[in-house]
Amino acid sequence: MSAAATPREPAIRTWDGAEDGLPLVVEAVARSADALRSWIASHHEWVQDRLLAHGAILFRGFEVFDAPAFERVARAVDDHLQNEYLGTSPRNALTDYVFTASELPPFYPIPQHCEMSFTAHPPHKLFFCCLVEPAAGSGETPLADFRKVLRALDPELVKRFEEKGLRIVRNYSGPGGGGRFDLWKLKRWDEMFLTTDRAAVEAKCRAEGFEPVWTAGGGLRLVSTQPIVRRHPITGEPVWHNHSTTFHVSQAAGEYARIQRLRPSLRHFALWQLARALGALQRRKPADERAMHCTWADGSEIPDADMEAVRDAVWQHLVIVPWRRGDVVAIDNFAVAHGRLPYRGPRNIAVAWA
Ligand SMILES: [Fe+2]
Repeated sequence: MSAAATPREPAIRTWDGAEDGLPLVVEAVARSADALRSWIASHHEWVQDRLLAHGAILFRGFEVFDAPAFERVARAVDDHLQNEYLGTSPRNALTDYVFTASELPPFYPIPQHCEMSFTAHPPHKLFFCCLVEPAAGSGETPLADFRKVLRALDPELVKRFEEKGLRIVRNYSGPGGGGRFDLWKLKRWDEMFLTTDRAAVEAKCRAEGFEPVWTAGGGLRLVSTQPIVRRHPITGEPVWHNHSTTFHVSQAAGEYARIQRLRPSLRHFALWQLARALGALQRRKPADERAMHCTWADGSEIPDADMEAVRDAVWQHLVIVPWRRGDVVAIDNFAVAHGRLPYRGPRNIAVAWA
């Protein structure tokens, strides 16, 4: 083994200095991606243990500069990478198991969520890698410990969500389904399921607990329910583990309002007002015809005040770490959520999951 493959022990700290801080930062200087992979392999138990405790680990200062190197590092943490993506973000494949994190427009904020929490079997771990770092003060992938968010929420609100249940509606366009610009428009269903075979799509929907409805114009509506709180599969800790803040019609305006408070600018103010106006238009459509939305399980609307309370708790726990090229973040997807702040200019963040 070459000297370069046996790095000195990296510096280890938490981002905020707290004992249980998020994320735990494992930092080296100008070390190769292979050295990081070897270090993780030889500290495998420690990495798993710390990931459980902190919820996320940031490996910083290593030269993880392309998708294949990222895939090798991710596999050192968990070799069971998956490549079936049933979420809403458009993504491009970089390797068989590494994708661009999201091709949603850069100005669009992605609210905090645990990856694919609305599926029957959400990923256990999620990995991000910064291939091209965004301009300072933009394009971060904030994290939030959803175990702490659950503890911070009013127990009455949690009880209300659990008793009433969540119903999610997503409307996907079909093959050849271009159509007019819509801020909320999701990708096409054939892109999501990687097939145009409707029977195959229906079989997959059954496996995931989605009710498929073929709509006029070749579109597909997916209706599903999901738990509000899940137990961590290893520690048994309860976690706020649902996509309500991502799918609710209030999400874009709710996010922009907070982004404007965080980073006041005319641009953010204008986007906030635009999101409010477009949100008002969406609300005039029946719930099932909106691009995406969630209601209580009986189809009645969740009060905006409840969604605001959830967003407040999430934002109080937001940890915003600026990206540096080569950063790899490993996330316990049953403990910690992620999102994206708006940006302009170049940015390339890759994702993988296990
Ligand atoms: Fe995500």
